[in-house]
Amino acid sequence: MKFFLDTANLDELKKGAAWGIVDGVTTNPSLIAKEGRPIVEQVRMICDIVDGDISAEVVATETKEMIREGHELSRIHKNIVVKCPLTRDGIRATKALSGEGIRVNVTLCFSAGQALLAAKAGAYIISPFVGRLDDIGWTGMELIRSITTIYRNYGYKTQVLAASLRSPTHVIDAATAGSHIGTMPFKVLDMLFNHPLTDKGLEQFLKDYNKVFQETPVAG
Ligand code: G3P
Repeated sequence: MKFFLDTANLDELKKGAAWGIVDGVTTNPSLIAKEGRPIVEQVRMICDIVDGDISAEVVATETKEMIREGHELSRIHKNIVVKCPLTRDGIRATKALSGEGIRVNVTLCFSAGQALLAAKAGAYIISPFVGRLDDIGWTGMELIRSITTIYRNYGYKTQVLAASLRSPTHVIDAATAGSHIGTMPFKVLDMLFNHPLTDKGLEQFLKDYNKVFQETPVAG
């Protein structure tokens, strides 16, 4: 499973990238606005930190303008994946941009039918939002299971990116459901490291070792 960071914050991205386990980044207009810099500038800086797919979203709502923005965003860096919303105009833009060889991440997916539309339009990635479905009393993870099954049934190449993941359990469940990618806030990635038995075990190992040896095993 590929791990993407769902943030436009450069400090978080630097910390995550230093661990060597971040495969890409997803941004959206809300996340870009939080950082206060224009999208082209912010995304260019992100591309310098993480070497992998970097999703940058259009803000237009009409096909022609989405395509124009898509062209502009894709020129920022070779790793850019243009994000289009799952609307009628967004699907038309996805079809057109994909036809030109520009990779598109179709976002704001909340049903398996919508995911089929994106695959048929040639999307590179589909982004079903797990947490936001949970928020309205649905089981968001069911959607990931349905989409991975449908895509497998028909051999669609579109990658499933589980988005709106809010906890380590969400990440594990998305992986179990066969999601190709999980995008998560930095806090969730950080939480994946934690286990009380790891801390307790390490403390005991070091205590036992230091009782017998006072020096480090390999001379510095
Ligand atoms: O990037 C889109 C998605 O991951 C947003 O998550 O927590 O705002 O629903 P959230």
